[in-house]
Amino acid sequence: MYLNSIYLKGWRNYQEEKVTFNPGINLFLGNNGQGKTNLLEGIYFLATGQSPRTSRIEDLINWHSQYFYLKGELHKDDGSNTIEMGGARDGRRVNKIDGVPLQRLTEIAGLLSAVFFMPEDLTLVKGGPAARRRFLDTEIGQISRVYRFNVNNYKKYLRERNALLKSKNPDKILLQVLTEKLADLSGPIIQERNDYLQKLSLLTRLKHRKISGNTEELSLRYNWSIEPGLSRQQVLAKFAETRLLERQYKLTMVGPHKDDFSFVLNGAELKAFGSQGQQRTAVLAVKLAEIELIKTETSEYPLLLLDDVFSELDEERRELLLEYLTDRVQTFISSAEALPPGSKVNSYWVDAGRICERI
Ligand SMILES: Nc1ncnc2c1ncn2[C@@H]1O[C@H](COP(=O)(O)OP(=O)(O)OP(=O)(O)O)[C@@H](O)[C@H]1O
Ligand SMILES: [Mg+2]
Repeated sequence: MYLNSIYLKGWRNYQEEKVTFNPGINLFLGNNGQGKTNLLEGIYFLATGQSPRTSRIEDLINWHSQYFYLKGELHKDDGSNTIEMGGARDGRRVNKIDGVPLQRLTEIAGLLSAVFFMPEDLTLVKGGPAARRRFLDTEIGQISRVYRFNVNNYKKYLRERNALLKSKNPDKILLQVLTEKLADLSGPIIQERNDYLQKLSLLTRLKHRKISGNTEELSLRYNWSIEPGLSRQQVLAKFAETRLLERQYKLTMVGPHKDDFSFVLNGAELKAFGSQGQQRTAVLAVKLAEIELIKTETSEYPLLLLDDVFSELDEERRELLLEYLTDRVQTFISSAEALPPGSKVNSYWVDAGRICERI
Protein backbone atom coordinates (compact mmCIF):
# COMPACT_ATOMS: atom_id res chain seq x y z
CA MET A 1 0.00 0.00 0.00
CA TYR A 2 1.23 3.51 -0.75
CA LEU A 3 -0.05 7.02 -1.28
CA ASN A 4 -0.04 7.57 -5.02
CA SER A 5 -0.97 11.25 -5.03
CA ILE A 6 -2.39 14.14 -3.07
CA TYR A 7 -4.48 17.06 -4.26
CA LEU A 8 -4.52 20.10 -2.00
CA LYS A 9 -6.94 22.99 -2.30
CA GLY A 10 -6.96 25.97 0.07
CA TRP A 11 -4.59 24.13 2.43
CA ARG A 12 -2.15 26.40 4.35
CA ASN A 13 -0.07 28.23 1.70
CA TYR A 14 -1.30 25.96 -1.15
CA GLN A 15 -4.03 27.39 -3.37
CA GLU A 16 -4.36 24.37 -5.62
CA GLU A 17 -1.71 21.72 -6.19
CA LYS A 18 -1.45 18.04 -7.07
CA VAL A 19 1.62 15.87 -6.49
CA THR A 20 2.27 12.28 -7.51
CA PHE A 21 4.56 10.30 -5.21
CA ASN A 22 7.04 7.49 -5.40
CA PRO A 23 6.27 4.35 -3.34
CA GLY A 24 9.73 4.71 -1.73
CA ILE A 25 11.40 7.86 -0.43
CA ASN A 26 10.12 11.28 -1.45
CA LEU A 27 12.33 14.26 -0.64
CA PHE A 28 10.99 17.83 -0.60
CA LEU A 29 13.61 20.50 -0.95
CA GLY A 30 13.16 24.25 -0.82
CA ASN A 31 13.98 27.44 0.99
CA ASN A 32 12.49 28.35 4.35
CA GLY A 33 8.79 29.15 4.52
CA GLN A 34 7.85 27.67 1.12
CA GLY A 35 5.41 24.91 2.19
CA LYS A 36 7.48 21.77 2.86
CA THR A 37 6.15 21.21 6.38
CA ASN A 38 2.65 22.26 5.24
CA LEU A 39 2.69 19.48 2.64
CA LEU A 40 3.78 16.84 5.18
CA GLU A 41 1.08 18.11 7.53
CA GLY A 42 -1.48 17.66 4.70
CA ILE A 43 -0.38 14.07 4.12
CA TYR A 44 -0.56 13.34 7.86
CA PHE A 45 -4.00 14.93 8.07
CA LEU A 46 -5.27 12.72 5.28
CA ALA A 47 -4.05 9.62 7.14
CA THR A 48 -5.25 10.55 10.63
CA GLY A 49 -7.77 13.38 10.37
CA GLN A 50 -5.57 15.47 12.67
CA SER A 51 -2.74 17.93 12.43
CA PRO A 52 0.33 17.42 14.61
CA ARG A 53 0.64 21.22 14.88
CA THR A 54 -2.84 22.55 15.61
CA SER A 55 -6.30 21.45 16.65
CA ARG A 56 -7.94 24.50 15.01
CA ILE A 57 -9.37 23.79 11.54
CA GLU A 58 -9.15 27.50 10.78
CA ASP A 59 -5.35 27.49 10.99
CA LEU A 60 -5.24 24.93 8.19
CA ILE A 61 -7.34 26.92 5.71
CA ASN A 62 -5.52 29.20 3.28
CA TRP A 63 -5.93 32.82 4.33
CA HIS A 64 -7.68 33.60 1.03
CA SER A 65 -10.04 30.58 1.10
CA GLN A 66 -13.22 29.69 2.94
CA TYR A 67 -12.40 25.97 3.20
CA PHE A 68 -9.70 23.39 2.54
CA TYR A 69 -10.06 20.21 0.57
CA LEU A 70 -7.59 17.30 0.42
CA LYS A 71 -7.85 14.24 -1.76
CA GLY A 72 -5.49 11.28 -1.65
CA GLU A 73 -5.29 8.26 -3.93
CA LEU A 74 -4.09 5.10 -2.28
CA HIS A 75 -2.56 2.34 -4.28
CA LYS A 76 -3.09 -1.20 -2.98
CA ASP A 77 -2.16 -4.57 -4.40
CA ASP A 78 -5.82 -5.40 -4.88
CA GLY A 79 -7.06 -2.02 -6.16
CA SER A 80 -7.18 1.59 -5.03
CA ASN A 81 -9.00 3.84 -2.61
CA THR A 82 -9.61 7.56 -2.39
CA ILE A 83 -9.72 9.55 0.81
CA GLU A 84 -11.22 13.03 0.84
CA MET A 85 -11.22 15.54 3.66
CA GLY A 86 -12.61 19.01 3.83
CA GLY A 87 -12.93 21.65 6.53
CA ALA A 88 -14.69 25.02 6.61
CA ARG A 89 -14.08 28.16 8.67
CA ASP A 90 -17.17 27.49 10.80
CA GLY A 91 -15.59 24.17 11.88
CA ARG A 92 -17.71 21.90 9.67
CA ARG A 93 -15.86 18.88 8.32
CA VAL A 94 -16.42 16.24 5.69
CA ASN A 95 -14.40 13.02 5.53
CA LYS A 96 -14.99 10.37 2.87
CA ILE A 97 -13.54 7.07 1.79
CA ASP A 98 -14.34 6.15 -1.82
CA GLY A 99 -17.04 8.81 -1.84
CA VAL A 100 -18.82 7.47 1.26
CA PRO A 101 -18.95 9.84 4.26
CA LEU A 102 -17.33 8.49 7.44
CA GLN A 103 -19.26 8.21 10.69
CA ARG A 104 -16.08 8.27 12.74
CA LEU A 105 -12.55 9.34 11.90
CA THR A 106 -11.20 6.11 13.37
CA GLU A 107 -12.58 4.33 10.29
CA ILE A 108 -9.53 5.53 8.35
CA ALA A 109 -7.23 3.65 10.72
CA GLY A 110 -7.91 0.35 8.99
CA LEU A 111 -6.97 1.87 5.64
CA LEU A 112 -4.13 4.26 6.31
CA SER A 113 -1.97 5.43 9.20
CA ALA A 114 1.03 7.69 9.57
CA VAL A 115 3.89 8.50 11.91
CA PHE A 116 5.20 12.07 12.02
CA PHE A 117 8.59 13.18 13.25
CA MET A 118 9.15 16.88 13.71
CA PRO A 119 11.84 18.89 15.50
CA GLU A 120 9.42 19.64 18.38
CA ASP A 121 9.33 15.91 19.16
CA LEU A 122 12.70 16.33 20.87
CA THR A 123 10.65 17.33 23.92
CA LEU A 124 10.14 13.60 24.35
CA VAL A 125 13.76 13.44 25.51
CA LYS A 126 14.38 16.99 26.67
CA GLY A 127 11.00 18.05 28.03
CA GLY A 128 9.25 17.41 31.33
CA PRO A 129 7.46 14.18 32.31
CA ALA A 130 4.05 15.47 31.12
CA ALA A 131 5.27 15.28 27.48
CA ARG A 132 6.24 11.61 27.91
CA ARG A 133 2.95 10.70 29.61
CA ARG A 134 1.08 12.45 26.79
CA PHE A 135 3.10 10.39 24.31
CA LEU A 136 2.19 7.15 26.13
CA ASP A 137 -1.48 8.09 26.38
CA THR A 138 -1.72 8.98 22.68
CA GLU A 139 0.19 5.99 21.41
CA ILE A 140 -1.43 3.34 23.62
CA GLY A 141 -4.80 5.04 23.14
CA GLN A 142 -4.49 4.47 19.39
CA ILE A 143 -4.22 0.73 19.92
CA SER A 144 -6.46 0.20 22.97
CA ARG A 145 -9.93 1.60 23.51
CA VAL A 146 -9.98 0.23 27.06
CA TYR A 147 -6.84 2.20 27.85
CA ARG A 148 -8.37 5.42 26.48
CA PHE A 149 -11.47 4.84 28.57
CA ASN A 150 -9.48 4.12 31.75
CA VAL A 151 -7.17 7.11 31.34
CA ASN A 152 -10.07 9.50 30.74
CA ASN A 153 -11.84 8.23 33.86
CA TYR A 154 -8.64 8.36 35.89
CA LYS A 155 -8.12 12.02 34.90
CA LYS A 156 -11.70 12.86 35.85
CA TYR A 157 -11.45 11.28 39.33
CA LEU A 158 -8.02 12.80 39.84
CA ARG A 159 -9.39 16.29 39.18
CA GLU A 160 -12.23 15.63 41.64
CA ARG A 161 -9.87 14.26 44.27
CA ASN A 162 -7.45 17.19 43.94
CA ALA A 163 -10.32 19.66 44.19
CA LEU A 164 -11.48 17.87 47.35
CA LEU A 165 -7.99 18.00 48.88
CA LYS A 166 -7.92 21.74 48.29
CA SER A 167 -11.26 22.29 50.05
CA LYS A 168 -11.35 23.40 53.69
CA ASN A 169 -12.61 20.22 55.36
CA PRO A 170 -12.33 17.35 52.89
CA ASP A 171 -15.13 14.83 53.35
CA LYS A 172 -13.36 11.66 54.55
CA ILE A 173 -15.80 9.21 53.00
CA LEU A 174 -15.79 10.92 49.62
CA LEU A 175 -11.99 11.03 49.73
CA GLN A 176 -11.89 7.29 50.39
CA VAL A 177 -14.31 6.60 47.52
CA LEU A 178 -12.19 8.63 45.11
CA THR A 179 -8.99 6.97 46.36
CA GLU A 180 -10.51 3.55 45.64
CA LYS A 181 -11.62 4.67 42.16
CA LEU A 182 -8.07 5.82 41.37
CA ALA A 183 -6.56 2.66 42.83
CA ASP A 184 -8.88 0.46 40.74
CA LEU A 185 -8.01 2.30 37.52
CA SER A 186 -4.28 2.47 38.30
CA GLY A 187 -3.71 -1.28 37.96
CA PRO A 188 -4.89 -1.67 34.33
CA ILE A 189 -3.32 1.64 33.23
CA ILE A 190 0.07 0.73 34.69
CA GLN A 191 -0.16 -2.76 33.22
CA GLU A 192 -0.86 -1.48 29.68
CA ARG A 193 1.89 1.12 29.97
CA ASN A 194 4.31 -1.55 31.13
CA ASP A 195 3.43 -3.91 28.25
CA TYR A 196 3.70 -1.11 25.70
CA LEU A 197 6.98 0.27 27.05
CA GLN A 198 8.56 -3.16 27.07
CA LYS A 199 7.74 -3.72 23.42
CA LEU A 200 8.70 -0.16 22.51
CA SER A 201 11.95 -0.33 24.43
CA LEU A 202 13.10 -3.49 22.71
CA LEU A 203 12.23 -2.24 19.22
CA THR A 204 13.70 1.20 19.92
CA ARG A 205 17.01 -0.35 20.93
CA LEU A 206 17.15 -2.38 17.71
CA LYS A 207 16.27 0.60 15.48
CA HIS A 208 18.76 2.76 17.32
CA ARG A 209 21.55 0.29 16.68
CA LYS A 210 20.72 0.44 12.97
CA ILE A 211 20.93 4.23 12.64
CA SER A 212 23.88 4.68 14.99
CA GLY A 213 25.82 1.98 13.17
CA ASN A 214 25.99 -0.23 16.30
CA THR A 215 28.17 2.32 18.08
CA GLU A 216 25.77 3.28 20.86
CA GLU A 217 23.34 1.44 23.11
CA LEU A 218 20.02 3.10 23.93
CA SER A 219 17.56 1.95 26.56
CA LEU A 220 14.41 3.28 28.18
CA ARG A 221 14.35 3.49 31.96
CA TYR A 222 10.95 3.58 33.68
CA ASN A 223 10.21 5.57 36.77
CA TRP A 224 7.02 4.07 38.07
CA SER A 225 5.06 5.93 40.70
CA ILE A 226 3.42 2.61 41.52
CA GLU A 227 5.21 -0.42 40.10
CA PRO A 228 3.29 -2.84 37.87
CA GLY A 229 1.84 -6.08 39.21
CA LEU A 230 0.72 -4.93 42.69
CA SER A 231 -2.53 -6.11 44.24
CA ARG A 232 -5.40 -3.69 44.96
CA GLN A 233 -4.45 -3.75 48.65
CA GLN A 234 -0.85 -2.88 47.87
CA VAL A 235 -1.90 -0.02 45.59
CA LEU A 236 -4.20 1.33 48.29
CA ALA A 237 -1.30 1.10 50.76
CA LYS A 238 0.80 3.29 48.39
CA PHE A 239 -1.94 5.92 48.48
CA ALA A 240 -2.09 5.67 52.28
CA GLU A 241 1.69 6.15 52.57
CA THR A 242 1.46 9.60 50.96
CA ARG A 243 -1.37 10.90 53.14
CA LEU A 244 0.82 13.37 55.03
CA LEU A 245 2.43 14.69 51.87
CA GLU A 246 -0.87 15.16 50.11
CA ARG A 247 -2.26 17.07 53.05
CA GLN A 248 0.75 19.33 52.85
CA TYR A 249 0.62 19.88 49.05
CA LYS A 250 -3.17 19.47 48.68
CA LEU A 251 -2.55 17.22 45.66
CA THR A 252 -2.65 13.49 44.91
CA MET A 253 1.02 12.52 45.20
CA VAL A 254 1.05 8.99 43.86
CA GLY A 255 -0.41 7.18 40.83
CA PRO A 256 0.01 6.85 37.05
CA HIS A 257 -0.16 10.66 36.69
CA LYS A 258 3.32 10.70 38.27
CA ASP A 259 4.87 8.03 36.00
CA ASP A 260 7.82 8.87 33.79
CA PHE A 261 10.51 7.25 31.72
CA SER A 262 13.89 8.42 30.53
CA PHE A 263 16.32 7.66 27.75
CA VAL A 264 19.68 6.22 28.71
CA LEU A 265 22.53 6.19 26.18
CA ASN A 266 25.57 4.05 26.97
CA GLY A 267 24.64 4.23 30.65
CA ALA A 268 24.17 8.04 30.86
CA GLU A 269 20.94 10.06 30.95
CA LEU A 270 20.40 11.35 27.42
CA LYS A 271 18.50 14.40 28.65
CA ALA A 272 21.47 15.67 30.65
CA PHE A 273 24.44 14.39 28.67
CA GLY A 274 23.32 13.73 25.09
CA SER A 275 24.26 15.94 22.14
CA GLN A 276 21.52 17.39 19.90
CA GLY A 277 22.26 14.76 17.25
CA GLN A 278 22.18 11.92 19.79
CA GLN A 279 18.86 13.13 21.19
CA ARG A 280 17.45 13.40 17.68
CA THR A 281 18.65 9.90 16.81
CA ALA A 282 16.94 8.53 19.94
CA VAL A 283 13.58 10.12 19.09
CA LEU A 284 13.93 8.89 15.53
CA ALA A 285 14.53 5.37 16.85
CA VAL A 286 11.32 5.63 18.90
CA LYS A 287 9.39 6.67 15.78
CA LEU A 288 10.83 3.76 13.78
CA ALA A 289 9.86 1.44 16.63
CA GLU A 290 6.31 2.84 16.51
CA ILE A 291 6.21 2.03 12.81
CA GLU A 292 6.99 -1.61 13.56
CA LEU A 293 4.34 -1.71 16.31
CA ILE A 294 1.73 -0.33 13.88
CA LYS A 295 2.83 -2.87 11.29
CA THR A 296 2.25 -5.66 13.81
CA GLU A 297 -1.22 -4.31 14.68
CA THR A 298 -2.49 -3.53 11.16
CA SER A 299 -0.18 -5.67 8.97
CA GLU A 300 0.63 -2.56 6.87
CA TYR A 301 3.45 -0.08 7.37
CA PRO A 302 2.23 3.46 8.08
CA LEU A 303 3.41 6.44 6.03
CA LEU A 304 6.47 8.04 7.59
CA LEU A 305 6.78 11.81 7.61
CA LEU A 306 10.15 13.23 8.58
CA ASP A 307 10.21 16.98 8.94
CA ASP A 308 13.68 18.49 8.86
CA VAL A 309 15.23 15.39 10.30
CA PHE A 310 18.59 15.60 8.58
CA SER A 311 19.79 18.90 9.94
CA GLU A 312 21.53 17.38 12.96
CA LEU A 313 22.40 13.92 11.70
CA ASP A 314 25.88 13.30 10.36
CA GLU A 315 26.34 11.85 6.90
CA GLU A 316 26.77 8.30 8.15
CA ARG A 317 23.53 8.39 10.16
CA ARG A 318 21.66 9.90 7.20
CA GLU A 319 22.83 7.11 4.96
CA LEU A 320 22.03 4.37 7.48
CA LEU A 321 18.55 5.84 7.97
CA LEU A 322 17.86 6.00 4.23
CA GLU A 323 19.20 2.50 3.78
CA TYR A 324 16.85 1.22 6.49
CA LEU A 325 13.81 2.98 4.97
CA THR A 326 14.40 2.10 1.34
CA ASP A 327 12.00 -0.55 0.01
CA ARG A 328 10.20 -0.75 3.34
CA VAL A 329 8.21 2.32 4.31
CA GLN A 330 6.82 5.04 2.05
CA THR A 331 8.61 8.09 3.40
CA PHE A 332 8.19 11.85 2.95
CA ILE A 333 11.15 13.95 4.01
CA SER A 334 11.50 17.71 4.07
CA SER A 335 14.95 19.18 4.01
CA ALA A 336 16.67 22.42 3.22
CA GLU A 337 19.64 20.59 1.69
CA ALA A 338 19.98 17.90 -0.98
CA LEU A 339 21.07 14.35 -0.15
CA PRO A 340 24.35 12.80 -1.20
CA PRO A 341 24.28 11.82 -4.89
CA GLY A 342 23.32 8.21 -5.51
CA SER A 343 20.57 8.11 -2.81
CA LYS A 344 17.49 6.24 -3.99
CA VAL A 345 15.04 9.10 -3.59
CA ASN A 346 12.55 11.07 -5.66
CA SER A 347 13.27 14.77 -5.20
CA TYR A 348 10.81 17.65 -5.48
CA TRP A 349 11.29 21.38 -5.30
CA VAL A 350 8.86 23.40 -3.19
CA ASP A 351 8.53 27.10 -3.90
CA ALA A 352 5.77 29.39 -2.58
CA GLY A 353 3.08 26.71 -2.49
CA ARG A 354 4.03 25.10 -5.82
CA ILE A 355 5.72 21.72 -6.09
CA CYS A 356 7.64 20.36 -9.04
CA GLU A 357 9.45 17.07 -9.49
CA ARG A 358 13.19 17.32 -10.09
CA ILE A 359 14.72 15.10 -12.72
N1 LIG B 1 -3.36 29.09 6.84
C1 LIG B 1 -2.38 29.58 6.07
N2 LIG B 1 -2.66 30.25 4.92
C2 LIG B 1 -1.66 30.74 4.15
N3 LIG B 1 -0.36 30.61 4.44
C3 LIG B 1 -0.03 29.95 5.57
C4 LIG B 1 -1.01 29.38 6.43
N4 LIG B 1 -0.39 28.79 7.47
C5 LIG B 1 0.93 28.96 7.24
N5 LIG B 1 1.16 29.65 6.12
C6 LIG B 1 2.46 30.05 5.53
O1 LIG B 1 3.19 28.88 5.21
C7 LIG B 1 4.57 29.19 5.29
C8 LIG B 1 5.31 28.13 6.08
O2 LIG B 1 5.28 26.99 5.40
P1 LIG B 1 6.07 25.73 5.95
O3 LIG B 1 6.02 25.68 7.43
O4 LIG B 1 5.56 24.58 5.20
O5 LIG B 1 7.55 26.13 5.48
P2 LIG B 1 8.78 25.19 5.19
O6 LIG B 1 8.95 25.11 3.71
O7 LIG B 1 8.63 23.93 5.93
O8 LIG B 1 9.96 26.08 5.78
P3 LIG B 1 11.20 25.71 6.75
O9 LIG B 1 12.30 25.26 5.85
O10 LIG B 1 11.52 27.05 7.37
O11 LIG B 1 10.75 24.70 7.73
C9 LIG B 1 4.73 30.48 6.05
O12 LIG B 1 5.20 31.45 5.17
C10 LIG B 1 3.33 30.78 6.54
O13 LIG B 1 3.08 32.14 6.52
MG1 LIG C 1 9.42 23.27 7.74
